[in-house]
Amino acid sequence: MSRRAVRPRRYLMCRPAYFDVVYSINPWMDPSKPSDTELAVLQWERLYRLYRTLGHRVDLIEPGENLPDMVFAANGATVVDGRVLVSRFRHEQRVPEGAAYERWFRDAGFDEVLVSDAICEGEGDLLTAGEFLLAGTGFRTDRAAHVTAFAFLRKPVVPLTLVDDRFYHLDTALAVLDDDEVVYFPDAFSADSRRVLRRLYPDAILATEADAEAFGLNAVSDGRHVVLPEAAVDLAGRLADRGFEPIGMDVSELHKAGGAVKCCTLELRGRVPVAD
Ligand code: ARG
Repeated sequence: MSRRAVRPRRYLMCRPAYFDVVYSINPWMDPSKPSDTELAVLQWERLYRLYRTLGHRVDLIEPGENLPDMVFAANGATVVDGRVLVSRFRHEQRVPEGAAYERWFRDAGFDEVLVSDAICEGEGDLLTAGEFLLAGTGFRTDRAAHVTAFAFLRKPVVPLTLVDDRFYHLDTALAVLDDDEVVYFPDAFSADSRRVLRRLYPDAILATEADAEAFGLNAVSDGRHVVLPEAAVDLAGRLADRGFEPIGMDVSELHKAGGAVKCCTLELRGRVPVAD
């Protein structure tokens, strides 16, 4: 079995100090069910420590007291070649997160920062895959934001339409494993988008519905290790068959808000300032 190469990454994360499920903006969120902030912090800390053990650098943004979803840092921005496209959230409950992320990037010394004019939910919907930017739409990010992303991030954009509201962000339906390898759940996409994905990635791993429901596609790859929810057991096996090292994490508490591993992890790509 080939040993795949790790490319060290830089991530931004947000401790879920105020995590809670108090509103419902996706089908997974049920405010009448109990959620446990302390357990969410514990699960998140294991993920944070894992990235560092794997050799990645993790920066932290201060959590906002009235922003229970701010732990999902992937939604705050999309960073390509050091350029930061700051998100404009669809739901009013998350709108203030945009300003918090913008401030973090400016304070950290990023000098090319643009706040999206259209609704755009960061790496929730804009996934860098080698030369392409895979761009989700359908539930959250507007098509107009794809145009902004193309102009500002300067990568060819591949628009993909999501059709199943359980998989409302692209990063719940597709994971980028390497520059030219992805895994996805076909039924989450429109017929046209499935055709595009088949053409671009004829050898892609296709995830089962059970793996998708376990948020197995909400995974983070460093080229060799693929960190994913431990409940996605089938997918872990298939990743191993392809020479990846799957690492399963318990993110059950974050799943109650409709998030998992990737949602908690914003990748800072390209030449980025080093603050300390
Ligand atoms: N409750 C959050 C929302 O619905 C979850 C976001 C998950 N993040 C992600 N990248 N898919 O906005």
